Amino acid sequence: MSPTPASASGASPLVFITGASSGIGQALAAVYAARGWRLALVARRTGEVEAWARAQGLAADRVQVYAADVSQVDDIVAAGQRCIASQGLPDVVIANAGISVGMDTAQREDLKVLQDTLATNNIGLAATFHPFVDAVRRRGSGALVGIASVAAIRGLPGHGAYCASKAAVVAYCESLRGECRGSGVRVVTLLPGYIATPLTARNPYPMPFLMPAATFAARAVAAIDAGASYRVIPWQMGLVAKLMRALPNAWFDALFAGRGRKPRRGE
Ligand SMILES: NC(=O)c1ccc[n+]([C@@H]2O[C@H](COP(=O)([O-])OP(=O)(O)OC[C@H]3O[C@@H](n4cnc5c(N)ncnc54)[C@H](OP(=O)(O)O)[C@@H]3O)[C@@H](O)[C@H]2O)c1
Repeated sequence: MSPTPASASGASPLVFITGASSGIGQALAAVYAARGWRLALVARRTGEVEAWARAQGLAADRVQVYAADVSQVDDIVAAGQRCIASQGLPDVVIANAGISVGMDTAQREDLKVLQDTLATNNIGLAATFHPFVDAVRRRGSGALVGIASVAAIRGLPGHGAYCASKAAVVAYCESLRGECRGSGVRVVTLLPGYIATPLTARNPYPMPFLMPAATFAARAVAAIDAGASYRVIPWQMGLVAKLMRALPNAWFDALFAGRGRKPRRGE
């Protein structure tokens, strides 16, 4: 796909991004804004998104903000439908909203963490794509982008909810890619390594190749432009992920035995 696809209406191209109030989502919005694209931005904290858009000096016809909780199917589907009605069919849809919370299966309340994580990171991702899938396939162009994680590669102790959800994002997007094959629509699975955002700010373990969100966003958009089906960013984490995948289970378990754990809810 070209960086600035020609819209049928002659308007500048449109990107729909969930999780636009913070971190990676906001950085992606900034890259597309700098290219002159129109923005459809989704979050629960719409005030943060509106303040960001004002600070960027974006004209009102360039950006619309949609309030939605992606874990509530009706909410995010309605946001997608409002976007189509008011701004048109996006050229790129990025299902980025996500949460990352530690869990301990021995703690009853952490089952709710697993439930919330799957509702946000998985059901929310599919529900983000849902209102657009048929229409972009009929149009014959566009990109549906799922934000997974290198945490999808192996299950890390104390992080079962997140690792399971991101492994499911990878498998789900692979299924969707097959469903879109031949339609002209690209399905792009991005696996960020460690990116400096509020989500990683309190991680009590080393984060190799930690990358600023703006750098990640620039590389992510390049991967989307290229129509990459699967990309780990930064690439160094791609190598680490391959090595991790290849480690025998006993070695992997021993390597991560003493590692700090993602804080649980309330910690
Ligand atoms: N940072 C990393 O190192 C890293 C690594 C791998 C993958 N990722 C993935 O990248 C994505 C973005 O993460 P980030 O690092 O930018 O985190 P972040 O700074 O915490 O931002 C998360 C975003 O998701 C939105 N969100 C969370 N739950 C939501 C819900 N129920 N409904 C609607 N929006 C929701 C938040 O918006 P509101 O709270 O305003 O709704 C916020 O804009 C996530 O999918 C994350 O798993 C991040």
